[in-house]
Amino acid sequence: MPMTDRSDHKFITVRALLSVIRRSPSVECEWRAVHRVRDLGRLGAPWYKQFMVAADLPDLADVLAARARIAPYLRPTPLHRYPALDALAGVGLRVKHENHQPVGAFKVRGGVNLISQLSGEERRSGVITASTGNHGQSIAYAANLFGVRSIICVPEQANPVKVESMRALGAEIVFHGRDFDDAREHCEKQAAEHGYRYVHSGNEPMLIAGVGTYALEILQDLPDTEVIVVPVGGGSGAAGTCVVAKAARPSIEVIAVQSQAAPAAFWSWRAGELTTGPNTTIAEGLATRTAFELPQRILRELLDDFVVVSDEALLNATRVMIEKTRNLVEPAGAAALAAVLADPERFAIVCSGGNISPAQLAGLWPEHAATSG
Ligand SMILES: Cc1ncc(COP(=O)(O)O)c(C=O)c1O
Repeated sequence: MPMTDRSDHKFITVRALLSVIRRSPSVECEWRAVHRVRDLGRLGAPWYKQFMVAADLPDLADVLAARARIAPYLRPTPLHRYPALDALAGVGLRVKHENHQPVGAFKVRGGVNLISQLSGEERRSGVITASTGNHGQSIAYAANLFGVRSIICVPEQANPVKVESMRALGAEIVFHGRDFDDAREHCEKQAAEHGYRYVHSGNEPMLIAGVGTYALEILQDLPDTEVIVVPVGGGSGAAGTCVVAKAARPSIEVIAVQSQAAPAAFWSWRAGELTTGPNTTIAEGLATRTAFELPQRILRELLDDFVVVSDEALLNATRVMIEKTRNLVEPAGAAALAAVLADPERFAIVCSGGNISPAQLAGLWPEHAATSG
């Protein structure tokens, strides 16, 4: 569906609200009317739900607002070209270096945007979230910046590099379950029990708008970008990229990449409805059994293509990225390169993170580990 239809939705939402409000005799009734419409949306009344969710979709204005909010705290990241990578891929590539962020991953853009906009009550109650590590680092970093308590639920086997970073940022870490979804369910229970502000890793317009700022920077540095390839776990990065790219120039292709070993977002996008899938990938940044409503709504509307790559291809791309760009990259951060190497026709690739653990790093070159030991 083209962007104009989405703005129409917003317009209709505002009109629907105004017509309810106009029938209300007092200011107090107006607020009750607004909350009533919101409640109907939350309860799932189909007509209202459609409009409320449409109204919640972030657009380019939200990304521009996010850019202004995060600018005092996060510098733009470089977009580099590596001839050795071009030669291997057989195509002119640009690498967007989100691994250069202070927490080593793009997610921090969303965290700073969201935490900067919390209400006084939300700040006082503290925030809780679930993560395999990079989203958690993002929330921990932003919470630390704004003096907010943060609790991060992570799987028991979470990447120790990311856990240590979150702790150093002052977050309280709760280990729970075998994977992200176990940790997420535990987190949601804790949020309901203790009244913390729960930050969902995908269904948050502020996170999507925040991470969309890297796509703005790509287009600022390379206005004639033709294709942007983005790794996907829950889909916030790809959704933010779509919002920016399609508003800037609809002909820019956005391609999402997920691991074959954790394909829930891909399956959901292809089916046109939320579905779950297995999760056995070694790339913890992409490791989820579920897909998320808000990013999926955006991806269904705006994403051009979705590809899946094997974990073997992810590991190979991680090795290539480290060797050819001399950047430390985690497997999720090399997913876009893996997709390009599989089909070297087109491309700007997003290197979304660099937080590889020492164990993962050693495993990339087992032959060297054996000889150096
Ligand atoms: C390095 C890295 N790349 C990609 C992703 C996927 O991002 P999203 O969940 O927005 O799809 C993540 C998620 O944590 C990540 O850490």
